[in-house]
Amino acid sequence: MSAIVPVNTAPADHAGPARCEIWWARPSDQHAGLLSLLEDVELQRRSGYRRPEDRARFTVGAALMRLAAARTLSCSPGELRFNRDCPDCHLPHGRPRLRQHDLEVAVSHSADLVMIGLSTSTPMGVDVERVDPARSHKLARRVLSARELDGFRTLTHDEQTQVFFQAWTRKEAVLKSTGDGLRMPMNAVEFDDRGQVLAYPGRPELTGNAHVIDLKPREEGYRAALAVLTPPPAEVTHYDARGLLRSW
Ligand SMILES: CC(C)(COP(=O)(O)OP(=O)(O)OC[C@H]1O[C@@H](n2cnc3c(N)ncnc32)[C@H](O)[C@@H]1OP(=O)(O)O)[C@@H](O)C(=O)NCCC(=O)NCCS
Repeated sequence: MSAIVPVNTAPADHAGPARCEIWWARPSDQHAGLLSLLEDVELQRRSGYRRPEDRARFTVGAALMRLAAARTLSCSPGELRFNRDCPDCHLPHGRPRLRQHDLEVAVSHSADLVMIGLSTSTPMGVDVERVDPARSHKLARRVLSARELDGFRTLTHDEQTQVFFQAWTRKEAVLKSTGDGLRMPMNAVEFDDRGQVLAYPGRPELTGNAHVIDLKPREEGYRAALAVLTPPPAEVTHYDARGLLRSW
């Protein structure tokens, strides 16, 4: 397993609740004009996807990240440059970070949904997953802690599916908010009843200073979560990205 990369997860210095924007799109929102928004490394990554649906998800995510960030920063999307270096192998598939601007961005895609998170007040992570009952049984041990598994085993099949995908999206969101990604085992992370981080190995500063929020995707059959490195509450505003993507 790769080493955990040290990132600054000290609580954000903020005067009020964290404010986040969540943008929702679909792979079918892709159109040829969006390619002009992608940087060379992104075009290369795009051409590496064999399946058209993977290409579409990636393209919409990368283009929307730029369009939404430019709207927030009141600048042209063409001015924005992102660093996507993976700290393990230095290929451009890591956490996206805006160069020269203090704006946090996060991306997730699953099946027919693409979501982007933005915040000027805190590091953040987002995750969306299509609910698939078969996966909740296969992956339960990898995602749930021993304590969570005890409770999970007492639930009905349908309840297990919902609890599993809630835990998965919450945990993946928080692992993205720190930048650790799957280098941190999901089953080592726990939350309290308010969604505040209770356990996160190696980062004691997160306990009580980071929390997750369950989000309601606009499509049925999905679960999503947002994680921010601040205590509750957080202000979340949702946007439909179709108009913004079409405007380019
Ligand atoms: C980040 C990670 C949890 C994403 O999981 P996923 O469910 O497959 O995919 P999602 O659609 O939810 O999220 C993908 C997005 O996460 C972002 N991302 C990648 N690594 C990230 C990290 N360490 N922290 C935060 N965000 C990250 C990217 O923007 C990516 O979108 P892109 O493909 O458009 O660039 C997982 O890919 C990971 O842990 N990657 C790092 C470790 C790794 O596997 N490295 C590859 C070998 S070197």
